[in-house]
Amino acid sequence: MLTLGIETSCDETAAAVLRGEGEILSSVISSQVREHAKFGGIVPEIAARRHAEVINHIIAAALDEAGVRLDRLDLIAVTVGPGLSVSLVSGIACARALGEALGVPVMGVNHLEAHLMSNFLTGPLPELPAVCLLVSGGHTEIIHIRAPGDYEMLGCTRDDAAGEAFDKVARVLGLGYPGGPAIQQAVEAAPGPPVPFPRPMLQNPSLEFSFSGLKTAVIQHLKTEESAGRTPHPGNVAAGFQDAAVDVLVKKTLRAAARTKVKTVLLCGGVSANSALRAAFARQCQKKRLDFHSPPLELCTDNAAMVARAGLLNHSLTKLSPTLSPIPNMNI
Ligand code: KG4
Ligand code: ZN
Repeated sequence: MLTLGIETSCDETAAAVLRGEGEILSSVISSQVREHAKFGGIVPEIAARRHAEVINHIIAAALDEAGVRLDRLDLIAVTVGPGLSVSLVSGIACARALGEALGVPVMGVNHLEAHLMSNFLTGPLPELPAVCLLVSGGHTEIIHIRAPGDYEMLGCTRDDAAGEAFDKVARVLGLGYPGGPAIQQAVEAAPGPPVPFPRPMLQNPSLEFSFSGLKTAVIQHLKTEESAGRTPHPGNVAAGFQDAAVDVLVKKTLRAAARTKVKTVLLCGGVSANSALRAAFARQCQKKRLDFHSPPLELCTDNAAMVARAGLLNHSLTKLSPTLSPIPNMNI
């Protein structure tokens, strides 16, 4: 079974060819990050134009790298949401045209489900049921995966997503965009101890998060220091922010694991590339004798291999594909 995955939900144009369930023959990603960096965030018009310009080349490159001819494809999987409407349409239009021309089925994929499936591509496969923390630029959710394709959302953020908080805090610290990798680097080079920050919502027994308060605490700290005539080192502030975010993310997810009595904990989404977060999860899960999985780094951030995997899952479950139109607010 050869599946072509296509991803254009945000600022990465990606295509991948998957053989069977877990053999990634190719995974090509064209990132627009440099173009958006000068604006400090994603500019929808630029994203839409770039996707339209490069999508055909990226698909051709993925097929070429995989050594697979178009007429050998068995399935096409494309992200239909959540994401930017103007970006999603590029991938969807290509998938539809290819599907019609080749007579191959096209599965519309939920980008969030694709992130969940990034843990089911390589290495020893996690056992289900599991609890998965999905942390990306737009989402922070704890999801109970009861069986393949059977999900229950246990908690999410009340305001900013974790990745959004990394991006915003990096901006106020002048560390650049995207903020996640910039914060991680600054922390690794921090000269002093981390600045202590509160752990929002940790005392609240719910499985919900709030990251907007943490961002405000960082801004407040910078203002206080400035009015006292001091200039805090960005690395020390970044370290305090990262410690607080990691602490809340790990503790709430392990709380969810205890409540659902699962033995497997998964991490996915762009923020799962964070080394401190991965290390804290690995440590705490080992302590609690939980089996922990996180995707290889190249599958944490947006890619099309995970989209192909999710399309294949839904195809094998004979789940109906959502309409092949953008669904910007799609949820799990
Ligand atoms: O999953 P993703 O590639 O796109 C969305 O679906 O949103 O996630 C992007 C997010 C950005 O907010 C970025 O700053 C964050 O993932 N990120 C990180 C790291 N690498 C990417 N956050 C923390 N540490 C990292 N190393
Ligand atoms: Zn994503």
